[in-house]
Amino acid sequence: MCGIVGYVGSKDASSIVLEGLKKLEYRGYDSAGIATVNGDLAIRRAEGKLVNLENRLREAPLDGHLAIGHTRWATHGAPIERNAHPHADEARVIAVVQNGIVENFMALRAQLQQEGHTFVSDTDTEVITHLIDKYLAQGDGLVEACRRAFRQLHGAHAIAVVSKQEPDKIVTVRLGNAGGVIVGLGQDENYLASDIPAILDHTQQVVYLEDKEMAVITAGQVNFYRLDGQPLRKETHQITWDPISAVKGQYRHFMQKEIYEQPQSIQSTIRGRVDFTSGQVHLEHLSLTPAEAKAIERIVIVACGTSAYAGQVGKFMLEKLAQVHVSVDYASEFRYRDPLLDDKTVVLAITQSGETADTLASMEEGQRKGAKLWSIVNAHGSMAHRISDGVILMQAGPEIGVASTKAFTATLTDLFLLGMYLGQQRGVLGAEESFELATALAHLPELAGETLVEGYNDYQTLAKLYHHCEHFLFLGRGLNYPIALEGALKLKEISYIHAEGYPAGEMKHGPIALIDDNMPVVCIATQDHVYDKMISQIEQVRARKGIVIALINEGDNEVAAKADHVLKIPTAHPLLTPVLSVIPLQLLAYHTAIWRGADVDQPRNLAKSVTVE
Ligand code: M6R
Repeated sequence: MCGIVGYVGSKDASSIVLEGLKKLEYRGYDSAGIATVNGDLAIRRAEGKLVNLENRLREAPLDGHLAIGHTRWATHGAPIERNAHPHADEARVIAVVQNGIVENFMALRAQLQQEGHTFVSDTDTEVITHLIDKYLAQGDGLVEACRRAFRQLHGAHAIAVVSKQEPDKIVTVRLGNAGGVIVGLGQDENYLASDIPAILDHTQQVVYLEDKEMAVITAGQVNFYRLDGQPLRKETHQITWDPISAVKGQYRHFMQKEIYEQPQSIQSTIRGRVDFTSGQVHLEHLSLTPAEAKAIERIVIVACGTSAYAGQVGKFMLEKLAQVHVSVDYASEFRYRDPLLDDKTVVLAITQSGETADTLASMEEGQRKGAKLWSIVNAHGSMAHRISDGVILMQAGPEIGVASTKAFTATLTDLFLLGMYLGQQRGVLGAEESFELATALAHLPELAGETLVEGYNDYQTLAKLYHHCEHFLFLGRGLNYPIALEGALKLKEISYIHAEGYPAGEMKHGPIALIDDNMPVVCIATQDHVYDKMISQIEQVRARKGIVIALINEGDNEVAAKADHVLKIPTAHPLLTPVLSVIPLQLLAYHTAIWRGADVDQPRNLAKSVTVE
């Protein structure tokens, strides 16, 4: 959840690291800090957002050509400067940054205190600093001292260490699944980062560290080792992301930019995967023979948050298009419930970041029990991508806003493609149906574009009228129920309004008690097979004087006449309608949060990659 950046070369290291941290601030913004080695070890840290560290650096700049930096999402210890990373030892020889949790830190801390070490922070990370310090005092070089310290840590970590006694190098390690450690390769300069956007302006050549792998990074070379000291040869990957896609451009917020990018990201998702004359789908990293496709008895989708809601929509798509049983589990529950899996089951992980700890643990559980492992992942090269037997790489580009938007619609599009692909391989979809589905898909980017045209829906009026409300209800049925969940999640994440998504038919079994003339109820009532049922539920809300905001298909005068307000979407294939119906809900949440003066891109308490349990 924290972000780490490192640089060694001939340029001003602290500015490069600061700029990199800005691209990782979505991972945590409780505090930030940078350490440079330039003869001496120098550290600047500041509580709160990165701008505070930037101001501090303006008052007291850091010189030098080697630096590590960190942006924190607090786990152990309050978000105050004393607990900000980097953490130095008492003699200020080394500095350490960490992403993850040292699960045995209490025992290590007690032992180190007994040995005479004095702790100045409440963090678990500081034990790493003192452990390395202990081994340096016993005569080890930096790399060996780090190795000995790393081997004592329980939990998952990404760590970087510098020392003024060995001022040419950064030592880094990945232990378990605490988020990525990416080494960026340059010309007489090298980089380190938790995620690609941090270094994308400088290099597109990267090496990913796996569990229990270390790198020793100097300006001239990078050496890779296993934790036991064995040298490693690692493959270099070329990143294809465009550096421009990781900046805000003309938009006020990343979330806003990412919402408006959806026609393009949906287009990129479809591009090259569908033959529009035959309707045949091809997925480049998932090729199955018809026999293999027919042998699949069950797909178990595991994911968290927005990705789990995408999975719930995916269940409808896969069951309909491929006639295969699908269940959807929150990864945080799945990993602990001893699920029944076998080699005829596919565990399909959905994850934007490819780093979510619970999702990765669920994948490992699937692997352990002999299931096939597939994933739909946006962060190319991430852990989820690398451990999968088959993968569908989202083509959404980097998603920086903490509230996921374009990754959700890209996932829905990928799930539809997967449904078509499996349906074709399993002999469920014939030529005519495949052609119709492909044609429907071809229109999707344009329909998403229509939904986003200026003035198509009046979000300002709704946000102005209802931003002061403390509760919202979102109702949907069938495919629209997960969209109700996602609409509610978007609103609560960025505006801090309590919002609940509910299956509309269940409203009368309890939540109806909440409805009064102060409760906006967003009713997703697109024209599908449960349209009439949804109309009845709208009547029930109206009868209790609830404020009805109906999400309808354009031209639906019947529901429009019953609603206080409408949000409309163009008509699409029923299975693709959720891709459109979520867009007005994203914008409703966005504009409401703006009216409430909330920080849209960095909502309180959240982080983009949830790499801890
Ligand atoms: O990176 P992942 O897709 O695995 O992340 C899963 C959730 O943490 C994520 O979708 C979260 O719910 C977002 N903040 C939603 O906007």
